Amino acid sequence: MREISGHTRTCGLIGNPVEHTLSPVLHNTLAEHMEQELCYVPLKVAEGALEAAVKGAYALNLLGTNVTVPYKSDVIPYLKDIDPLAEKIGAVNTLVRVDGGFKGYNTDMPGLYRAMCSDGVQIEGEKVLILGAGGVARAVAVLLADKGATEIILLNRTVEKAQKIADEVNAFVGKKLAFGMANEDYRKLPEGEKYLVIQATSVGMHPNDKDVVITDEAFYEKVHTGYDLIFNPSETRFMQLVKAAGGKAYNGAKMLLYQGVIAYEYWTGTNVSDELAQIAYEAMQAAGK
Ligand code: ATR
Repeated sequence: MREISGHTRTCGLIGNPVEHTLSPVLHNTLAEHMEQELCYVPLKVAEGALEAAVKGAYALNLLGTNVTVPYKSDVIPYLKDIDPLAEKIGAVNTLVRVDGGFKGYNTDMPGLYRAMCSDGVQIEGEKVLILGAGGVARAVAVLLADKGATEIILLNRTVEKAQKIADEVNAFVGKKLAFGMANEDYRKLPEGEKYLVIQATSVGMHPNDKDVVITDEAFYEKVHTGYDLIFNPSETRFMQLVKAAGGKAYNGAKMLLYQGVIAYEYWTGTNVSDELAQIAYEAMQAAGK
């Protein structure tokens, strides 16, 4: 157990619920190994109390916080400043203390990118399918466009939502790169084409481990790599179906790791080595079991 002293700086996770988070394990492991006097705690914020919480966190000299469900967009009006990528995505998951308040960043998407790089999954030049059209899918679409995907197709139960995100992404990049489709329309995708697929819905998350957006095995013949943003269970039904059809499959645990690592780097102004990230990853996995 690390010593808490008068010099210890506090960080934490603003959200509701926060009881199942693995972020304290991640950040406290990093702080311990880097010998930094930093302590990370859950900060459950009740409905209606977000503004008071952000002001209070500043008044109490917190170094920074993460922000999770349901406050990633709601927190934006209470920030002193916002990073351009977070503004484009419309969601903030990291607050960094600056003069007079907090600056908001989105480290989820850079975290996903670093995770994909670490897993050897390429975006540049790829044709990509995104399952879902919620806030997470929108952020993924922005990332993919930014990192040079050549085609982005959002498949969603409600096609209008997929189309709206596609239109926004196309407006950002100034060309027609993204398209929206209804889930069942994957049958219209060109014969023989294989895609990187990012599963960006909450379907299949514990305790609904058996659920999956598309059940048809024929869909998975079109997938060379499946990236599920869910990390619990560690192997989702989506991942099982991708593997059964001969594709590679990854879960969202490394994205969770790297969004935290990048937040930690912002707070402390340090670089976390790959070796230390791996140690933190193993600590999170042990705690998640
Ligand atoms: P977030 O902001 O975390 O991405 P969200 O906005 O609730 O969450 O989005 C969840 C996504 O999962 C949506 O794309 C949703 O589809 P709809 O836009 O049609 O609602 C999708 N989703 C949720 N439950 C689903 C289900 N049972 N089958 C198919 N898609 C589902």
